[in-house]
Amino acid sequence: MKVTLATEMAPPFVLVAHFFITSIVFLLLSGASLAFLAEDTSGYFISSSFAAFSHLYLLGFVMMVIFGALYQLLPVVLEAPIFSKDFAYIQFYMYVLGLSLMVSGFTFSSLHLLIPYGAVITYASMVIFCVNVFLTFYRLENINVVGKFLLMATLFLFASVSLGLVIGLSLGHGLFTIDIDAWTKAHIVGTLGGFVMMVIMGVAMVLIPMFSLSHGYSQQWIERALYVHSVGVILSMGCFIFGFSSLVAIPLGLLMVSSLLFLIQMASILKHRVRKQNDYWVKNIVFAFICFTCSLIALWFNPVLGGMLFFLGFLLPLIVGHIYKILPFLIWYEKFSPLVGKQKVPLLHQMIHTKIADIQTLSLFIAVIVLALALILGLNSLFVCGSALLFGSIMLVVYNTWYAFKYTTN
Ligand code: HEM
Repeated sequence: MKVTLATEMAPPFVLVAHFFITSIVFLLLSGASLAFLAEDTSGYFISSSFAAFSHLYLLGFVMMVIFGALYQLLPVVLEAPIFSKDFAYIQFYMYVLGLSLMVSGFTFSSLHLLIPYGAVITYASMVIFCVNVFLTFYRLENINVVGKFLLMATLFLFASVSLGLVIGLSLGHGLFTIDIDAWTKAHIVGTLGGFVMMVIMGVAMVLIPMFSLSHGYSQQWIERALYVHSVGVILSMGCFIFGFSSLVAIPLGLLMVSSLLFLIQMASILKHRVRKQNDYWVKNIVFAFICFTCSLIALWFNPVLGGMLFFLGFLLPLIVGHIYKILPFLIWYEKFSPLVGKQKVPLLHQMIHTKIADIQTLSLFIAVIVLALALILGLNSLFVCGSALLFGSIMLVVYNTWYAFKYTTN
């Protein structure tokens, strides 16, 4: 598959910028709130404090970046424009409002009645996204493997946020009598395993070969992963919802297998890379894949450690590494491409402050290692140190984002 990051069918940059800029604001907020989790890390992994952090970080940063990236990449991958740009703007504003209410409700017990209101608005915004994606797919005749991943991911998103809504309404107003713990686990598998992971698997098949200049690799691993992963997510969610939690190890095992297939596919792509330079992008993705492997192991015996490695060791460097590549390109395309041939235009790598990116990358790696040690040794004070280091690293991401947006040739 040969693709670039932009086509004339892509939406206006200002739409994608809405999502990217807001995601950085939420990343900063999540970084600032991490230290407050120190006290809770020795407890059970489902709690309102974890829910507050998870939604702030996952919905505010991870999903926000994913939405922005998908609006940019879907037209490229599917060779068709997104069904409605207006839907995307409406989704954005509802999402920010709903998420802010929901996270406030999870964070402050006196505001817990906000959870259902936030849940309904966030849910409605996600439904708009799903409808927009489904209608975009509806007009297509052929769907390639990346498209299949994105379609399945959107189906899982719809199913799992519907569960989230039911849980939210039950928590706030006791509207339904459900096993909250089991449903929350189904919701976690659906959102993280079904949506986030399937988007990553699909989009990685576009971005990793593009940025590493890889050719001539086989796609057999990812094609198998598509089926194994989808079956694993459906069965895991089913086991939790229909009360077969004792059997869930089997479908969770399938998710381990599909994750392994994905890692083998990534290794095979990187083996074929022409671009051998080990810059901050390579360092970020290699670190991310190592943490992903560690998180898969840790999840079985220490879910809090596994979750931290997945959230901060895998998702964060993977996304930040790609922000450093994608953002300069989009800004360059918008701001400088009309000037080509008329005046001097910058090279893409000049639009990121390389030294700051290197320091940021290193401090992120150290922060994740410190946080992991803090969780293994049960040291709250070390967790606070790791959080402070991580916050410093996030500040450098903020600086580099600002640097790329403000870049001028004068
Ligand atoms: C409409 C959207 C959503 C709603 C209404 C919603 C609602 C909820 C609720 C009510 C809980 C249980 C909280 C508790 O036990 O105190 C929960 C847990 C959780 N949700 Fe969501 N959610 C939504 C979307 C998402 C998405 C998109 C993700 C991931 C990308 C996600 C990840 C999680 C996680 C990881 C937990 C477990 C937190 C913990 O460890 O306690 N949620 N969600």
